[in-house]
Amino acid sequence: MSGTEFTVALLRWFAQYGRELPWRGIGDAYAIWVSEVILQQTRIDQGTAYWYRFMERFPTVQHLAAASEDEVLRLWQGLGYYSRARNMHAAARQIVEQGGFPHSIQGLKALKGVGDYTAAAVGSMAFGLPAAAVDGNVYRVLARHYGIDVPINTTRGKHTFEALAQELLPRDAAGTFNQAMMDFGATWCTPRSPRCQDCPVAPTCDALHTGCVLELPVKENKVKMRERRLSYIYVRHGGMTALRRRPAGDIWQGLWEPLLVEDAPPPDLGCPLTLLASGVKHVLTHRILLADFYLAEPAVRPVLPPDYVWIKEREIGNYALPRLVEKLFKQFTLL
Ligand code: ADE
Repeated sequence: MSGTEFTVALLRWFAQYGRELPWRGIGDAYAIWVSEVILQQTRIDQGTAYWYRFMERFPTVQHLAAASEDEVLRLWQGLGYYSRARNMHAAARQIVEQGGFPHSIQGLKALKGVGDYTAAAVGSMAFGLPAAAVDGNVYRVLARHYGIDVPINTTRGKHTFEALAQELLPRDAAGTFNQAMMDFGATWCTPRSPRCQDCPVAPTCDALHTGCVLELPVKENKVKMRERRLSYIYVRHGGMTALRRRPAGDIWQGLWEPLLVEDAPPPDLGCPLTLLASGVKHVLTHRILLADFYLAEPAVRPVLPPDYVWIKEREIGNYALPRLVEKLFKQFTLL
């Protein structure tokens, strides 16, 4: 199948089976961008619910730019990867300063948190720019159909797949084609149970003919993730508890957390500690966290490091928390 035939077959498939998503066909660059940022690490059903919440609270880029970072983080709570929210907020301010969305790939990439993929996705869908948006779905579809076993997590892989996607992209329907590839990968050419029997491009699928559909795409082995051991101590005194805002430097920057010690025993707070949970596992992109969670109820308010502030327990809901902390608080009905 030539590039054109593959492209036509996918566009035809999309016309019949493409998903109806609320930000499609409305030509609103802001709405599209918000959806792309949310969907970077989040499944579409959960992501769509957040997208509605976001659009309701911040209907335009001006609304988002005018919000406080705290409010944006609070609305983001539960999605994880908070740098996405911080970057999106900063980029909204850049956009408003510039007087509107940039209409070029280069201009889009100059926005905080916007890389090749997001610039191509927003540029093609909102402005018809001829740029291929290559996400995980696209890697899989192309690796299988064209029988490419270059590891997708290498520079050579990235270049190979981007060049091929760009070659297949119809100049006059770039946004539609990009979404067709994403939907096709997400609903038809899925990682573990692809629908090869009723696949529109099965006759020319290299992987299908060589029997290696499930072996593609190939990923180079990553190094084993490092583990970190955390102990959180929920200190309760007179209806109040102590939280601190995480300082700059990691993915939880700006979020709030209870007293924390890492790779060390919990401190003496002048009372016994109740161990509520031990070794709770939380997987991040580059790390595995194992958390112990304690409750301390000292009779005298302890002196804590200066970045901790005492807040009313019933106001915890006003503070944006890392997912792990939220999970622990919910489990022990502290939220
Ligand atoms: N995943 C990320 N962006 C998407 C889009 N526009 N359509 C379908 N899936 C997506």
